[in-house]
Amino acid sequence: MSATTSRGRRSTPEGTPGPRGNPVLGSMRDFQRDKLGFIRGLTRYGDVARYRTAHLTWYQINHPEGIRRVLQENNRNYGKGALTLGFFKPVVGEGLITSEGALWLRQRRLIQPIFHRKSVASFGSLMTEETLAMLERWGPAIEAGEPVDVPAEMARLTLDIVTGALFHAHVGEEPEVIGRAINTIVEDLGFRFEVPFYPPHRVPTPRNRRLRAAMRTVDRAVYAIIAGRRDGGDEEDLLALLMGTRDEETGEAMGDRQLRDEVMTLFLAGHETTANALSWALYLISTHPDAERRLREELDEVLGADRRIPTIGDLPKLAYTKMVVDETLRLYPPAWITNRQAVAEDEILGHRIPAGSFVSLSPYVLHRHPDFWDDPDAFDPERFAPGQGNGRPRFAYFPFGGGPRQCIGQSMALVEAQLVLATVLGRCRLRPTSDQPAEAEALATLRPRGGLPMAVEPA
Ligand code: HEM
Repeated sequence: MSATTSRGRRSTPEGTPGPRGNPVLGSMRDFQRDKLGFIRGLTRYGDVARYRTAHLTWYQINHPEGIRRVLQENNRNYGKGALTLGFFKPVVGEGLITSEGALWLRQRRLIQPIFHRKSVASFGSLMTEETLAMLERWGPAIEAGEPVDVPAEMARLTLDIVTGALFHAHVGEEPEVIGRAINTIVEDLGFRFEVPFYPPHRVPTPRNRRLRAAMRTVDRAVYAIIAGRRDGGDEEDLLALLMGTRDEETGEAMGDRQLRDEVMTLFLAGHETTANALSWALYLISTHPDAERRLREELDEVLGADRRIPTIGDLPKLAYTKMVVDETLRLYPPAWITNRQAVAEDEILGHRIPAGSFVSLSPYVLHRHPDFWDDPDAFDPERFAPGQGNGRPRFAYFPFGGGPRQCIGQSMALVEAQLVLATVLGRCRLRPTSDQPAEAEALATLRPRGGLPMAVEPA
């Protein structure tokens, strides 16, 4: 079959073009050596590129119309796939990220209203309070002139926020114990991304034992909180909202196991992603003086010279802050890649996608594609000024995915990013301690390689 795609690239008679790689491993080593460089390089093959890692064949979609086809138009044909499920299911069970079919649809309908912007607004003061608590913790480092490790700090902050949003303040066990356990789980997901053939959880290696102990800790805490609530409790947090939902048809509430899976999903989906977005934003602001100046002018204007604490009501006026967040998510999309598996054969932009093959969609690749962005590697928040993106295809930018499985926490993440940045930058300036540009490391999320120490001084 030979077909012309929207940009004139042909699917050759042998099929979709792509790197041949090694006869046995295909492109596995090239991918592992430099994941971001490898996937970005695949754009030279056209709108769809094919490659192999060992026995698996991948189709990477490099054009917004192809992304739309998979996530939206023909989404029913593309499941989360054996790989994604093998990766996440042992940890989050049948939570929203991993469930499919009727179960996913029921849960999505139940949970979606909880994440509407209006409900998220009730967490605004929690977000700024936790940010102020973090700044308090930085006090001794600021006085001693010592740097703080920004990604570690942001990870703690977003974990405190998601814990507070889920359980109010009542986590039962020491919050640090749960925090450590969640971090162990997040670290392990990153590790398995690097070492995909590591023995499964049931094999008692030291790593697997550590992981299972961490999961037991979180499970114990979550089940204890659920049991406490069943005995009567009037908290107003995400867990209460989850427990209060009722299936429209059957009127049934969620069972304990399903609640546990959703809570674990929200912990994992909502924590590292937002933390990395914040770290990159602080880095980009600190290395772009013009953007920093404009941002500080906006903070002066909206929050006054004494920089009062921002509220949800201020967000529409913090328009430049939002543009900085959007541009950060373009350059460093925390969820840098997502995969699907084709159920039946499909055709994307003239390329045949066989049933069972893996389809890979990368916001990182599309967000830096020169066909859709001028000077794609440059940090320029103006791209997101009102009216600027009018001619841009919808799926040239998809940090939160799209279609029915679009991120449910998008509003929460954006509100959180705007409020945290406005609170932090209203009170201090950060500067990287190294002149070397920060490098992105592609694990389960995109994070600064080797940490990101930054010096802090009062603003
Ligand atoms: C900057 C922060 C975030 C980014 C970049 C992000 C990105 C994404 C992306 C790309 C997807 C779709 C994955 C796919 O199609 O395979 C997704 C799904 C999801 N996200 Fe987020 N996310 C963020 C924050 C959050 C937060 C704060 C929460 C909740 C507290 C959350 C909860 C979820 C859930 C539950 C799903 C699965 C939805 C479904 O399949 O129905 N995310 N996220």
